[in-house]
Amino acid sequence: MAAQRLLLDRPASRTGDPRADERLAQNLAAGLVPGRSDFGSWVAQRTRFIDAELTAALAAPIRQVVIAGAGYDGRALRFRTPGVRFFELDHPLTQADKRNRLAAVGAAVDDVVFASADFILDDVAGALETAGHDATAPTFFVCEGVLRYLPEPAFRGLLRALAQRAAPGSVLTTTISTRDAGDESDTAAHARLAHEDRLAAAGEPVLTVPPRAVALDWLRDAGWISAVVHDLGDLSPGEVRGRLLVRATR
Ligand SMILES: C[S@@+](CC[C@H](N)C(=O)[O-])C[C@H]1O[C@@H](n2cnc3c(N)ncnc32)[C@H](O)[C@@H]1O
Repeated sequence: MAAQRLLLDRPASRTGDPRADERLAQNLAAGLVPGRSDFGSWVAQRTRFIDAELTAALAAPIRQVVIAGAGYDGRALRFRTPGVRFFELDHPLTQADKRNRLAAVGAAVDDVVFASADFILDDVAGALETAGHDATAPTFFVCEGVLRYLPEPAFRGLLRALAQRAAPGSVLTTTISTRDAGDESDTAAHARLAHEDRLAAAGEPVLTVPPRAVALDWLRDAGWISAVVHDLGDLSPGEVRGRLLVRATR
């Protein structure tokens, strides 16, 4: 991800620190050469989509941003804006590693609120409450590249918990991996399985990939109204289908 993101020409807020985000990505990529091009296309599309939505939300203006499963997302640095609170919510182990790397690259993060939670075990809404998130004011939520790594109850529980914290006017941007039976060529299935094997070997097994209609039902059941759903296969002809970019509201 970091190596792919370094290739992109990305926006930042006027007061943001894109250089710190780039230093974080360089620290992670550490000389890695970007890999498969279909993954690169997916990273480019999802980054562009969420960056554009966040830019619009900040202009709205929305004053709280929650990045769920933040990983090495540097948007809290890149889009730093006076009066806007960025919350990063992540598994404690990932977050600890990220914070070490942020310190190593000299990134200022005093204004970022770090809250940790295991989405399988912990009370996610409670973690946000404890961190000082205001559930009465609109929030821009990001949940990028996260849901498919969770078992179904945690996938749905995370969507519910974010909805619980979402005042009217809030926006959720999320990626969802979906799979429809009979939709995939043998070559595409082979490439996908090889990719998933590599993710599992790296400690990130893919656990939940519902059919598109089921995924959108789960989103609705959690309390979200999906307003925009793009499929990577439509955005980039020739790319695999089933990778969704979703913008949802309350
Ligand atoms: C593939 S990374 C994506 C990171 C980032 N959103 C991005 O797009 O670059 C998956 C993220 O989900 C988080 N995650 C996976 N399982 C989790 C769990 N059970 N509880 C909390 N976070 C989890 C990981 O810590 C990691 O930050």
